[in-house]
Amino acid sequence: NNAPVITIDGPSGAGKGAIAYRLAQHFGWPLLDSGAIYRVLGLAAERAGLSPAEVEPLVELATHLPLTFVADDASGEVVANLDGQPVGDLIRTDEAGARASQYASIPEVRAALLQRQRDFQVAPGLVADGRDMGTIVFPRAEVKIFLTASAETRANRRFKQLKEKGISASLCALLESIKARDERDRTRSVAPLVPAEGAFVVDSSTLSIDEVFSQVVEYTKKKL
Ligand code: C5P
Repeated sequence: NNAPVITIDGPSGAGKGAIAYRLAQHFGWPLLDSGAIYRVLGLAAERAGLSPAEVEPLVELATHLPLTFVADDASGEVVANLDGQPVGDLIRTDEAGARASQYASIPEVRAALLQRQRDFQVAPGLVADGRDMGTIVFPRAEVKIFLTASAETRANRRFKQLKEKGISASLCALLESIKARDERDRTRSVAPLVPAEGAFVVDSSTLSIDEVFSQVVEYTKKKL
């Protein structure tokens, strides 16, 4: 299989999701939101009452995870389904993200989800968003992007997003939880969050989404 792949890795809140979505639209390629896989696994594990210490049943769950990605007719967006039911915003909370990151630090769980992610590499191409897309899942990807931003910038962005949704939050608590999740993702023994060799590193702290997107597209066009 040699369909081209563009990987976008980086910490949460750096703007990966938005950039990956726009890149996928731009090239007309599907998008792999690998974080959603870990989030759905976290949800399924919680429902099954499995703690991160119960590795064997977790691997079993990850291997047979009844997860599908389905295009929603109304919005045209791809949504994650667990057991045939859309999980919607259940996986989009900060708690769901933190839970996902706990299960994601288990090497056996990651191994069980590897092939499922690689299966997304089909013609005409793939945009893959995550933490280890360029390092582990698609090491031979044509284009590797590492998108980052300071923890303060990411906490501020999240704070604004929540405020727009009418959800109250403490900026201080958000910053602490972002730092804790970064720390766990960066220091875990398997697939730690680091830029892939040769990745194009963009710091979005002082850039708008449009500015990041144009830098990334320019780079990508040169590489493909
Ligand atoms: O990207 P997102 O915030 O949805 O990811 C949620 C969590 O899933 C991350 O904090 C990380 O721990 C884990 N993850 C991962 N590898 C990926 C994608 C996500 O470990 N490729």
